[in-house]
Amino acid sequence: MDHTKMANSHRASAATARVFRGTFVHSTPQMALQVLDDVLLGVNTDGKIAFIGNGAELDKLSQKFGFVPSEVTQLAQHEFFMPGMVDTHIHAPQYMYAGTALDLPLLQWLNTYTFPVEAHFKDLELAKRVYTQVVKRTLRNGTTTACYFATIHTDASLLLAQIANDFGQRALVGKVCMDRNNTVKDYKETCQESQDETCRFIAELLNKKYPLVKPVVTPRFALSCSGALLAQLGATAKNNNLHIQSHISENAEEVKLVKELFPESKSYADVYHKYNLLTDKTVMAHGCHLTDEELLLFKETGASVSHCPNSNISLISGILDVRKVLNHEVKLGLGTDIAGGYSASLLDSVRRAMDSSKVLTLRDPEYNTLTFEEVFRLATLGGSQALSLDDQTGNFEVGKDFDALRVNIAAPGGPIDMFQCEKPKILLEKFLNLGDDRNIVEVYVAGKRVVAADSKIQQEDHFKL
Ligand code: GUN
Ligand code: ZN
Repeated sequence: MDHTKMANSHRASAATARVFRGTFVHSTPQMALQVLDDVLLGVNTDGKIAFIGNGAELDKLSQKFGFVPSEVTQLAQHEFFMPGMVDTHIHAPQYMYAGTALDLPLLQWLNTYTFPVEAHFKDLELAKRVYTQVVKRTLRNGTTTACYFATIHTDASLLLAQIANDFGQRALVGKVCMDRNNTVKDYKETCQESQDETCRFIAELLNKKYPLVKPVVTPRFALSCSGALLAQLGATAKNNNLHIQSHISENAEEVKLVKELFPESKSYADVYHKYNLLTDKTVMAHGCHLTDEELLLFKETGASVSHCPNSNISLISGILDVRKVLNHEVKLGLGTDIAGGYSASLLDSVRRAMDSSKVLTLRDPEYNTLTFEEVFRLATLGGSQALSLDDQTGNFEVGKDFDALRVNIAAPGGPIDMFQCEKPKILLEKFLNLGDDRNIVEVYVAGKRVVAADSKIQQEDHFKL
């Protein structure tokens, strides 16, 4: 197979900055797993993939793209590159209590644990500490793109955006909006405040002109928002062509209450639709209890689902039928949903997604279980599609940004023992099931190395607030 693709337009605007040679694995819309053996991949100074060609054509490619063959970085046999992973749903402030407080169902969990913790993020010092850690932790676990919920606090949400930018993570950041049904003192905003602060958040964040960090309009969920607020947020997103994120149909009690609160709407999805909140730049978390009719609405509007299997199990919310969502041709990515999900690593989401699919097969032996290749695609290309960022990231295509993980299956001190030389597909399967951050020896976002091979220290000196 000839992997050579030339991108003369990119060559014209930027010079080749780095070239790697070795095994690359990624997904395409047609193939859940495509293995590119012994390829040369060049990255331009602007961080975009300039070319992908056969290793055997080193001389020809070096002339064409103007790089020196001796400067090519050669991967070892037990190493490969894969696309960076995309966390389509994560609550940055909740990282503070991740790994605890998993003993209540959603609505009680929110009032007992979540809102009291989030209320503290008015304190910028606390926000700086927690947000720095969550960005560092997710990056080094291979999350090159994250779609974050912050809190209702505008300045702390702007700080999260700044931290993601400083560490080089691609991110969507949302100031959370919620003007009703909150029993926690000091964690409230009125409809007017929520709308005004959302506008300030968007204006100030866009004004920073961060290349990889953008605002996302974030109504918490229908139960937390009045119709008036949802309407204003829908209009704001539309007028500024912005991303939108929220939660939908996570647990049965929530679905029932939404029906009671919005009796005029046909369904939960219809509530959001009515307020122009379902668009092709919308990602809705969970969706465990969505009906076929609601999934049709997702398909029609281009809205996507973030599958958060750890959270769905940890809060005993439900099990998303991923196959049904995919059969409806609805875009779908994976999310950690920290802290409803207890792990900040998308490798955990991959494993829980596999487990959840197998539980559905336990219930119905005819059920078409997801394969690890399909779940790999959800963690990478699927996530980028769900966030409508697949023109920039998600796989190794000429012209996209180089967002990549250099994986060493046999990393010293790592969790995987190797006994023989294995094919790339086996290496990937081992990594997805057994690997951790020790195997992720380098992380690149838009061509920039943001986690380094030897030290794993992420630009500590670069980072100053
Ligand atoms: N629904 C509304 N808010 C939240 C939240 O913070 N976490 C989860 N899992 N579901 C929600
Ligand atoms: Zn969530």
